[in-house]
Amino acid sequence: MMTDRYAPETYNEFHPYSKSKEHTISERGHTVSAFNGRVRVTVVGVVSAGLVGACLLATRVVSAAGQADQKQVKNSYMPVVDTENFATIHDRMAAAKAGVMKRQMDLLDERYDLSDRPAKNVVMDRTKPVQEGVRVTLPPGVTWNELASDSAEQIREKGTFPKGFLPLPHANHPEGGMVFPNFEIQELLKQESRDLTRFDLDFDIPERFLAEFPPAIYLTTRPDLGDVSKGQLVTIANYYEMFSGILNPKQIEGLRLLLTPFPQQQFNQTTDRRSEKASRGVACLDCHANGGTNGAFHLVGDIRPQEFRHRIETPALRGVNIQRLFGSQRALKTVEDFTEFEQRAAYFDGDPVIATKKGVNVLERGSQVHFMAEFQELLDFPPAPKLGWDGKLDPTKATPAELHGQEVFFGKGQCATCHSVPYYTDNTMHDLHAERFYKQQMVNGMMMAHDGPIKTFPLRGIKDTPPYLHDGRLLTLDDTVEYFNLVLGTKLTDQEKKDLVAFLRVL
Ligand code: HEC
Ligand code: HEC
Repeated sequence: MMTDRYAPETYNEFHPYSKSKEHTISERGHTVSAFNGRVRVTVVGVVSAGLVGACLLATRVVSAAGQADQKQVKNSYMPVVDTENFATIHDRMAAAKAGVMKRQMDLLDERYDLSDRPAKNVVMDRTKPVQEGVRVTLPPGVTWNELASDSAEQIREKGTFPKGFLPLPHANHPEGGMVFPNFEIQELLKQESRDLTRFDLDFDIPERFLAEFPPAIYLTTRPDLGDVSKGQLVTIANYYEMFSGILNPKQIEGLRLLLTPFPQQQFNQTTDRRSEKASRGVACLDCHANGGTNGAFHLVGDIRPQEFRHRIETPALRGVNIQRLFGSQRALKTVEDFTEFEQRAAYFDGDPVIATKKGVNVLERGSQVHFMAEFQELLDFPPAPKLGWDGKLDPTKATPAELHGQEVFFGKGQCATCHSVPYYTDNTMHDLHAERFYKQQMVNGMMMAHDGPIKTFPLRGIKDTPPYLHDGRLLTLDDTVEYFNLVLGTKLTDQEKKDLVAFLRVL
């Protein structure tokens, strides 16, 4: 359904910041959020069911304070002035949490098969099984091969594009912000007594579809050591003992800064925070756990309005040394730039005004940014014992299925056009134009719109870092094969798809 961006089902009902307790669509005086839940505009007018969209467009608009009438204004900024105390905000949002999470979990249940189906004998870093099978749900009465025989236009018109292939909304898209998985929260509580729980939201994707926790750490400088994490989560509490004698002093200092919490939009000391207690903030490696990923997500800072912003799932920092573009779409050119700009504005939804209020941390380029980048550049991809120096399979070690999968990858599947050897990235961006297959529409406060150009993520070590794509919309490698088969129109057979998955698992 196409909906107006102020339609109540997307912005009122589930917007916990809204002051309105009543959510019936025939009510007088809707409260809607204009941006990120922090601008409140009261829409006055009699709105009857069925005519909501049209009526909302035609209603008079009065500012929240009930001052002079004014036209609704487009806005890129967040309000800086506090208008409510913490307890009021907290209680309203905490009360709405169950409804917000139910809406999101219903969406996941509709889109995916979330059951526990571990692949036999395929694990991530150490022991966590890789989940197998296509998990995106097909529309009723269609098979994957039938779907792939339709053109993009036919799929769009029939509405048969699988919903799990659409952009994935944030757990509460109108609100947004950083969300951490429970295992990370628990470990930080234990080691640092720092609490990354949000009172308004929980993590949504089941943990079986996330990377093994804590991830392994491989250093480009010391491949002889193997996994240097020894199964521990590196934090400010233990990093020194773990790394003194392995890293140089510059790198140790860089690691310390990557583990030091700094204020951020949801975790800070202001009344407009989302943690129970005033918070010291978040650290880089709270998301890039052990330089890998724990699946933490938020909304990208560089798109407006809110419903067009992408959910972004934390990429592993493994292999940033060989990459030349950073951010799925931001295209920053160096790890140094990414490191410096992340805490200045990306931590605050790309809004330097609110950053100043909440406590921006400006890093010094020569002695801080540089050291932090230097540590990140040491993070290696995991070992791939079946690959040779050219990044391709060693035929003496690979199975026939893997070798066939490689043939499909470099041939009929066309994967290597963008994922080129030896790291399986071309270090550029591509626009897959997946929006050819569906109509632009609002889902849970997010516009199912074009993704635009996205960076070609490297595929080395890919089995270790589910879920997939910039927003984590695909839960398994099998899903990525169906996705690209449809989007690229390669018409792979069942056997070709199966063997392609086998190949992806050994990269
Ligand atoms: C809330 C979790 C979170 C925190 C905290 C965080 N990041 Fe990230 N990081 C991400 C996400 C998500 C992306 C993808 C960004 C995008 O797609 O635009 C990313 C991307 C990156 C990239 C580019 C990786 C790539 O493959 O393109 C680098 C480098 C990086 N982060 C470093 C840092 C540093 C340094 C810090 C601390 C200053 C930090 N991150 C804090 C989640 C986080
Ligand atoms: C036109 C270039 C292009 C081709 C061809 C292509 N890919 Fe990709 N691939 C991308 C881009 C761009 C992304 C990131 C998309 C996103 O995040 O929305 C990506 C992402 C992926 C991911 C997820 C990476 C991650 O870290 O989440 C996998 C797995 C993948 N591709 C596998 C394949 C396979 C298998 C094929 C062949 C069947 C293929 N790709 C063909 C460009 C391409």
